[in-house]
Amino acid sequence: MFHEDAANDYDNRRKIVANLELHMIATIKTQLRQMRREGKAVGLINAIAYGNYQMKNLKDWMNAGTMKKLLERRAFSQETDKLVQFTMTESGGAIRPLQNPWEIGELMKRVRAKQPRVIVEIGTAKGGTLFLFCQHAADDATIISLDLPFGRNGGGYPKWKEKLYAKFAKPGQTLHLMRANSHLDETRTRIEALLKGRKIDVLMIDADHSYEGVKRDYDLYSPLLADDGFIAMHDVILNRFDPEIEVHRFWDELKATEKTEELVHDYGQGNLGIGIVRR
Ligand SMILES: C[S@@+](CC[C@H](N)C(=O)[O-])C[C@H]1O[C@@H](n2cnc3c(N)ncnc32)[C@H](O)[C@@H]1O
Repeated sequence: MFHEDAANDYDNRRKIVANLELHMIATIKTQLRQMRREGKAVGLINAIAYGNYQMKNLKDWMNAGTMKKLLERRAFSQETDKLVQFTMTESGGAIRPLQNPWEIGELMKRVRAKQPRVIVEIGTAKGGTLFLFCQHAADDATIISLDLPFGRNGGGYPKWKEKLYAKFAKPGQTLHLMRANSHLDETRTRIEALLKGRKIDVLMIDADHSYEGVKRDYDLYSPLLADDGFIAMHDVILNRFDPEIEVHRFWDELKATEKTEELVHDYGQGNLGIGIVRR
């Protein structure tokens, strides 16, 4: 009993320290972003951001071998909660989604209920959401991932990760990994060519988080949605850490005119939140 109490106490203290660390990192990042907006030490801050991005990719590269083997053997449960947990923690978080676990789990339950045959994801980054989309889509689905190398809000992914992401698809699925700027008309034309007349059942918008950026993605790709399809959009609540994330402004406009649903774990969390728009 004594040992159990001590272990729980240790676990609680570890969680508090981990949360404090996350809070400190978020505060430092917020301050650096603010300095950059004010034009202070821009070169240095960009160099730190680039170094940080490359360090994370190096860590992912070291863990990619284990992840690749697990993907090849399809050594993961098919239950939504376990799949989310897999992406969050497996192989040092090599494919960790930039999401709240509860929120992305709720979205995936809706995806599974729909059994979409066509999914388009704009904004893939470390691949966590793409992996989850593949596992929750129909066995013969076509999934298109669109990401811009060094794009805003995440920085895309290096080319070597393509081989890893290609293993996300179930045997009967077709996965396209497109590296392009979603805002260009020619990118939409390329997506339409891949769709071959089919409509999109689930469209995920999680790329450029500026007001103009998210609006452009919505305006360009929502006309390709099937009548019974839905659009999911990330970071819909006001972000108190980063004023450059403006999705909430566009989301508030959509809420006033469209049929919407919000998946927000805790409105006090100060960021994240998934919005769903249905026709
Ligand atoms: C927040 S991350 C995506 C996170 C991912 N959905 C997840 O939850 O794990 C945003 C991604 O969008 C990409 N991006 C930003 N602007 C883009 C654009 N104009 N076209 C395509 N991708 C873009 C970035 O490169 C980045 O990888």
